[in-house]
Amino acid sequence: MTLEGKVAIVTGSGRGLGLAYAQELARQGAAVVVNDVDEATAADAVASIEALGGRATAVVAPVGPTETAKQLVQTAVDTYGRVDILVTNAGVLRDTVLWKMSDDDFDTVINVHLRGTFTCVREAATYMRANEIPGRIICIGSPTGQRGNFGQTNYAAAKAGIVGMVRTWALELKKAGITANAVIPVAATAMTATVPYFAAAVEADEKGEPMPAFFRHDLGFGTSDDVAGLIAYLASDAAASVTGQAIGIGGDRLQLWSHPEAVATAYSDGGWSYDDLTTGFEEAVGTLQTVGEKFPPLPEDLQRS
Ligand SMILES: NC(=O)c1ccc[n+]([C@@H]2O[C@H](COP(=O)([O-])OP(=O)(O)OC[C@H]3O[C@@H](n4cnc5c(N)ncnc54)[C@H](O)[C@@H]3O)[C@@H](O)[C@H]2O)c1
Repeated sequence: MTLEGKVAIVTGSGRGLGLAYAQELARQGAAVVVNDVDEATAADAVASIEALGGRATAVVAPVGPTETAKQLVQTAVDTYGRVDILVTNAGVLRDTVLWKMSDDDFDTVINVHLRGTFTCVREAATYMRANEIPGRIICIGSPTGQRGNFGQTNYAAAKAGIVGMVRTWALELKKAGITANAVIPVAATAMTATVPYFAAAVEADEKGEPMPAFFRHDLGFGTSDDVAGLIAYLASDAAASVTGQAIGIGGDRLQLWSHPEAVATAYSDGGWSYDDLTTGFEEAVGTLQTVGEKFPPLPEDLQRS
């Protein structure tokens, strides 16, 4: 199985996870349209793919607006003749608690992640349908979108929204043979480098040393390259029947996330009145759901501050 003859677009692929995805897709034979807001980063990414013997070209433009989505698809078609694979990876953070989050913090994150995913997928899927290409749409979520996280209102909204859109697209694109999946990655990148909990893992990665097993195994936290294999797999013919899924990956760990389902169902004839609920809610629904990710305590030798 190979991606030879296929053409991929990877947004935000100048560095970090996106760069690893673009390199792995190229390694497996795909020609890649690299995208980033930073020109030098994008040029370096193209050079790194060419050094691997792959084919790549760069589009320097911010994901979010429809014009960028059009430019990405047009460049893929003009340069390599088609589009088979889209990975919507571009992302930024503007973390702060709800009561300090500005309109701009909210809009910036929603624009790049949620709107950027929507505009790029709309453009690529329209092209794939019109050209009868059984394409692959791979969108990037986050554990924060699945579970919530302190200080990430904007990011949680965007990432949960992305998984919601993927479920819808899996339904809408099924007849055209186009798959749509979400990948929920965890890796040492600029985005996670400042999280104190991961400091020992990031430190090892920066020194080129293997990350401690606690991170790779127990937390599913590894390098960007650890995530890239799943992207190439989902892009391949081997994954033709995998659609509508949210798949977690990082370090040595692979996970399939559930989609929300009702976990308790109870009935009250004539409906649930205020009185019915004040007396019967707890019994009717049982144990409440938890929120947030649970991290185990760091072993002492891996504590850094
Ligand atoms: N690192 C993790 O553990 C982790 C976990 C969950 C989700 N993610 C997601 O993975 C994706 C990549 O994250 P990363 O950790 O590699 O981050 P990163 O900051 O290292 O890389 C993001 C890249 O996107 C580019 N970018 C930012 N805004 C852009 C825009 N409007 N248009 C085009 N490019 C833009 C940046 O210049 C950068 O090169 C993001 O969507 C992020 O939310 C990362």
